[in-house]
Amino acid sequence: MRVLVTGGAGYIGSHTLIELHASGHDICVVDNFDNSSPEALNRVTDLIGAPVEFHQVDIRDRAALDRVMAAFRPEVVIHFAGLKAVGESAKLPLRYYDVNISGTLSLLESMQTVGCNRIVFSSSATVYGAPHYLPFDENHPCAPTNVYGHTKHMAEQILTDWTAANPAASVVLLRYFNPVGAHPSGRIGEDPRDVPNNLMPFVAQVAVGRREKLSVFGDDYDTPDGTGVRDFIHVTDLARAHVSAIGYAAGHSGTEVFNIGTGRGYSVLEMVTAFARASGRDIAYEIAARRPGDIARSEADPSKANALLGWQAEQGLEEMCASTWAWQSGNPQGFESS
Ligand code: NAD
Ligand code: WQD
Repeated sequence: MRVLVTGGAGYIGSHTLIELHASGHDICVVDNFDNSSPEALNRVTDLIGAPVEFHQVDIRDRAALDRVMAAFRPEVVIHFAGLKAVGESAKLPLRYYDVNISGTLSLLESMQTVGCNRIVFSSSATVYGAPHYLPFDENHPCAPTNVYGHTKHMAEQILTDWTAANPAASVVLLRYFNPVGAHPSGRIGEDPRDVPNNLMPFVAQVAVGRREKLSVFGDDYDTPDGTGVRDFIHVTDLARAHVSAIGYAAGHSGTEVFNIGTGRGYSVLEMVTAFARASGRDIAYEIAARRPGDIARSEADPSKANALLGWQAEQGLEEMCASTWAWQSGNPQGFESS
């Protein structure tokens, strides 16, 4: 299929390009490098051994997007482009609504100019908010507790309303749990611009000596060791879920939502121990106060994706840590290392 990938230079997008290429799809990437580096696309080109069609375009720029659409005429769009930092979203709500909502509207309108009516959207488990029960299934009520989560939930609603008005249209909403890991080559990976907000990149930067120690946000949760438990999913497994999702979109109409996780949670301290083992480095840490807004546990019920997408996560904690370490140790300053 001809697949337009918004945000394809980013962490999850770059890994997905590799899986799309391996499955024989034609790819076109749009990204404005707001949170990524052209070097990521150079590395993807090296890894797949073929050039990747790329356009430096902001998805809110309708005229530029329309030109890309008219030239490439995608059969499906995978929409990664957006802003994703929970803390920043509270400080810059208008920016988050602009990029994540206006950007999605601009993209849908532009798709309509070429009759493209299939889209796979990057949503997040954050749309569920605090758990009423665990594991989260797709019927769990949505009650996001932060601005970023609101934008994802609203975008889901916009896409759902769009399919209701366009019976031929197909929307696949993928609610990712906690993506971690890197391509096994260690050539691409997660490269946060500032101090990492997320656990895994922070741990990796401690291991490589860029940061002194990890603050573990709370050890008094109702979990086996008192630290938060999350459903970490290897980014390569997540990337493969997108290949399955575009196949599903091609054979169905309407909106369908899928949890993308492993169904197995690990605690913060389990992650620290596993990363120390994979890297052979000590991970210094201290116990700090709980981070406001955090929940004790988050785990997916991925059985719907297993059944309907024919997808399931294959990589375990060891691969998550080993691949992150291959990326971080080979590129201590991320893509700037090259
Ligand atoms: P990322 O920041 O690495 O990738 C997003 C990409 O979109 C970047 O390359 C960025 O430059 C680009 N972009 C941002 N604004 C743009 C704009 N206006 N026009 C064009 N390109 C733009 O993030 P990621 O971790 O790869 O996440 C991809 C998607 O998945 C995001 O929508 C994010 O909200 C969602 N998601 C991520 C996680 C996670 O933990 N990483 C979890 C759940 C959902
Ligand atoms: C995981 C655990 C922290 C950092 C976030 C977003 C979510 C989704 C994925 C985009 C928690 C603990 C963390 C640190 C720590 N992103 N931690 N010290 O909060 O589950 O989810 O990323 O959609 O929307 O909210 O992930 O990696 O930040 O935290 O102790 O320095 O690690 O308290 O228990 P989270 P995370």
